[in-house]
Amino acid sequence: MISKTYKKLIAKQFAQDFKSAIEIIELPISEPAPDEIVIRNKFAGINAGFDTLICRGEVPYVITPPFDLGVEAVGEVVAVGDDVKDFQVGDAVVTTVRGGGYREYQAINANLAIKVREATPEVLTLMPTGVSAMVALEQVGEMKSQEVVLVTAAAGGTGHIAVQLAKLAGNHVIGTCGSDAKGELLRDLGCDRIINYRTQNLNQVLKQEYPNGVNLVFECVGKQVFDTCVDNLAVRGRLVVVGFVSEYAKNIEQVTQPRIYHKLFWKAASVRGFLMPLYKEYMVEARDRLLNLFYTDKLKVAVDSTPFHGIESIPAAVEYLLSGQNCGKVVVRF
Ligand SMILES: NC(=O)c1ccc[n+]([C@@H]2O[C@H](COP(=O)([O-])OP(=O)(O)OC[C@H]3O[C@@H](n4cnc5c(N)ncnc54)[C@H](OP(=O)(O)O)[C@@H]3O)[C@@H](O)[C@H]2O)c1
Repeated sequence: MISKTYKKLIAKQFAQDFKSAIEIIELPISEPAPDEIVIRNKFAGINAGFDTLICRGEVPYVITPPFDLGVEAVGEVVAVGDDVKDFQVGDAVVTTVRGGGYREYQAINANLAIKVREATPEVLTLMPTGVSAMVALEQVGEMKSQEVVLVTAAAGGTGHIAVQLAKLAGNHVIGTCGSDAKGELLRDLGCDRIINYRTQNLNQVLKQEYPNGVNLVFECVGKQVFDTCVDNLAVRGRLVVVGFVSEYAKNIEQVTQPRIYHKLFWKAASVRGFLMPLYKEYMVEARDRLLNLFYTDKLKVAVDSTPFHGIESIPAAVEYLLSGQNCGKVVVRF
């Protein structure tokens, strides 16, 4: 079928920083096995936090190097195995398999691909980034309506979807971000209170404007932001630990302070961890609902406008996301 080679990014060793761990390798494009399809990836999502932690050996369920990198990709089917009935050459598909993202081509079991209308970065952003936002809010955060919901890193890939889902559920939504341009995006998305943490003090705003506290926090940042969010939880408030992006580029901070139950107990509040791979059973329903919201114009998808082209650009894209400059989802185009 295709007599070409393709490039992919692998972790060749564990290392403190992403760049020192990785290598680009070139391989022939394989023919599909009977139950496989071959996909030409057009866009892949950048998950800089996961990429950095996996390359450091800090993701507990990951094997030792070498291993393939990247997760979600959207592309076009270029070859179909003999036993595959549901796909044909030219179909647009999304895949969310670990190791399937940072590569130009992938051969994959057809059951792991999802057919979509078109191979765009917007559709890619919904899976699994949007799915993560939905499952974290609904299943872990037990999102209700008419509550106060706080989203940190609200203008990021995951955060901007969380903001809209919390609004669609009928909540008052506070979003934090680090620039006025990001604040503009949040305004467009209907965020009720936008806090630029570089010009306003998050703790002061919450204490003054939300004296009864925050019912649900979608927390992506960590460190002092996490502490402030815990301090401002309402009675029976829930904080979902979605990530801790402020620590990904550096070593984990060691803190000495009274145990967290002193803060939670008197408010019957809770802090809950979220990790998408441990909530797999909710993915299909969440994905279908998100696509429906998107196609009926009830949900907007923001893709960061900084262009990253090719496998070679991935380290720069990872660095860019960790620098905190991005607005919306960071993607690389192949
Ligand atoms: N648990 C899961 O299964 C799961 C799944 C998907 C994503 N996540 C997590 O969700 C979070 C967002 O991920 P994403 O890929 O969508 O990234 P992102 O939100 O698009 O980008 C990260 C954003 O974090 C903000 N940030 C705040 N403080 C920062 C700091 N000290 N250093 C760097 N950035 C800082 C920046 O925006 P502002 O400065 O404007 O705040 C930056 O744009 C991450 O923690 C990620 O690990 C978790």
